[in-house]
This record gives sequence, C-alpha cells and structure tokens, in this order.
Amino acid sequence: MTVGFTDDEIRRLPPAPVLDAHLDYLRREALIGGYEAQEEAQARLDAVYAAAAHLIGGSGPDEIALFENATRAFDMALYGVTLEPGDVILTSMAEYHSMFVTYLHRARRGVRVEVVPSDATGQLDVSALRKRVDEHVRLIAMAHMPTNGGLVQPAEAVGEVAREAGVFFLLDATQTIGQIPLDVRRLGCHALAGTSRKYLRGPRGVGVLWVAREWIERLEPPLMEGHAAEWVEPDRYVIRPDAKRFEVWESNVGARLGFGAAIAYAQALGLPRIWARVQMLAATLRARLAEVPGVGVHDLGAMRGGIVSFTVRDVDAARVKAALRAARINVTVSPARGTLLDMRARGLREVVRASVHYYNTDEEIDRLVAEVARLAR
Ligand SMILES: Cc1ncc(COP(=O)(O)O)c(C=O)c1O
Repeated sequence: MTVGFTDDEIRRLPPAPVLDAHLDYLRREALIGGYEAQEEAQARLDAVYAAAAHLIGGSGPDEIALFENATRAFDMALYGVTLEPGDVILTSMAEYHSMFVTYLHRARRGVRVEVVPSDATGQLDVSALRKRVDEHVRLIAMAHMPTNGGLVQPAEAVGEVAREAGVFFLLDATQTIGQIPLDVRRLGCHALAGTSRKYLRGPRGVGVLWVAREWIERLEPPLMEGHAAEWVEPDRYVIRPDAKRFEVWESNVGARLGFGAAIAYAQALGLPRIWARVQMLAATLRARLAEVPGVGVHDLGAMRGGIVSFTVRDVDAARVKAALRAARINVTVSPARGTLLDMRARGLREVVRASVHYYNTDEEIDRLVAEVARLAR
C-alpha cells in the first residue's frame, strides 16, 4: 500500500515513530530522572488522552482512562456498574475468557448472566436481544470482534437496543480499535475498552477505556487510590469527576506516549483505508485457504474483519503454528477455552489464527497458503 511512509517503516511492528516516542522517553528518564521526564512530557501525555478520545469519536479527554491492558480497562467499567440480586447481564456467544469470567464473578450474588443466541450468520441475534431486554437487564457487555475469528458483531444495532432500553452497554473493542473506524456515538455504547498492542501497532502494556461523560459519575470505581480521589480530610476523600477516577497513578509513561504515536500513525493512514484493506486481504486469504483440500476456514458473521481462523485436517494447530514460524510467518493458536461457548457450540478444539494487517502483501498471502497447503497434503 502506498501511503507516504517508506516501505521499511510501514512494515515494522510497531512502526518507527511509535518506537521512537517510546524509546526517546526512556532515554530522557535515564538522563534526567523519572519524575522530571514525566513533567517534561506532561503536555504530550495529556495529548494522548485527547487523541484516544478523537480516535473513537468521544467528546473529550475527560472521558478517557488508561490502564496496563484492555482487560483492566474493561473490568473497571464492568465492576463499576451497580448490580443487585435479580439483575441480568446479557452477552454474546463469542466472549473472550477474561471477560466471561468477570461476568461469572459478578454473577455470584444473585445476578444472572444470560447469553443471547447467535443468528444464522453467526453474529449476535439482535431481534433475540431486543425480545430479551426487560427491566432486570442492567448491563449488555460484548466483544466487538472475538479473539478466535473475524466475526464483526452488529454493535451499532446492539447499541440501538441498549439506548432504547436505557441499559448500560460496554463494548470490548480490543480486536477492532485501529482496525475498524470506531465512533462511539454511532455505536451507541456507553463505555468501550481497547488496547494499544493489537491493530493499533502500539506498545504492549497499555489499555484504554472510554466512558460516556454522562455515565462517568454513575459508575462506582471498584478500586480507589490517591490519583482517582483526593484525600481531603483524615476520614474523607473526594473522587475526581473525570474518567481518571478509574485509573491508578503509577504507569508506564513511555508506553503511553508510544500509544499516542500509534494513534497518530493510524489516523495519518486513515481508518477507513485501513479497514478496507484489512477486509480485502482477509477475504482473499479466506477464499484461498478454503480452496485447499483438508483446510477448514471458520470465521463467522455477516461482516468479517482481519482475523482469519482455520484448521488443517489431522494436523494440530501447534504444529501448523510451528511450521509457519519456521517459514517466518507468525500466527497464533486460539484454544477452545479462549472462547469456550462458541468453540463448544461449533465442536472446535482449537483454531489457527492469522491476523492480517494493511501492510501484508499478496505475496505473503501466497506464501502462507502455500505453506498451509504443504501441511495439508
Ligand atoms: C476479544 C478480546 N478481548 C479482550 C482481550 C484482552 O486483551 P489484553 O490481553 O490486551 O488485556 C483479548 C486478547 O486477545 C481479546 O481477543
């Protein structure tokens, strides 16, 4: 893809400006000290919050909180919703294990978790959701794209149901931030969690939470500390009014600056262009793999993104991964436990996950398909 960056730069993971922002900060820390470097970088750090809000169509930096990963970002909103015995959490068939266990954890004291079935395409059945929502439903929580395939859930339609019913909708956008243009107002979610480390190509160890301004003070932060709240009297604290009330003060400042650079990089390329190319490459890879005898392609949904999931008959996913690694092709294995409901329902023990990005080439797809075909013989 010709996008105004050099070929070498665009293919680095993370790209050079992201690495520079991260490493330059670490060098300043070594040179002048941790607190001093942070003070010096404060304006750039503040700008990361504004950039994150802008990336997803939020209203401003006060709606953003940063964490060490997407899981904690998600949790802080999930555990912030007040639930009473009899309340119901609705979710999808395609949830990631870290999220689903938090639903189960919250369900210990008389709260119920109910899974909305999928429709014939494999996405969440929106009409079933609409029928199920009643006054007991307090939370709809859902992965936008699961960990084990390219399914894009109908988040906008879910958001419409949630908004009409006045139910808090928490979207896990870990796999879609940086891949799909996201606009929280159009999606209709009230909170959204994402990560730096996946499609945004940012540093590991940074997660982001957006909470709609009107919901920030309606959520009860599940944990407290001295940056989330000010200790004003020996027996009293005052919680800050913005989304930083969910944060912890100490953080990996350099990685956060890298995250900001990753957002700028993605926005310079343009999210609509990124999404179009990712979809095109993934569709090509799916079609090519499906032609190989003995290979099963498993992605669900009416709309599909960059994660391509497949199996090779009589070859363990770990062997596929190792063979591809030897050919310098990186894929991962998604075991059943990662998305237990979906994998059990489809009788899948594991899938190989190839996540394509815009910098991948047709030649790389050819190589991947050729290697898989060799294994399938
Ligand atoms: C759908 C989904 N949600 C959440 C996560 C958790 O992200 P993290 O490990 O960065 O917290 C993942 C990780 O793969 C994921 O695939």
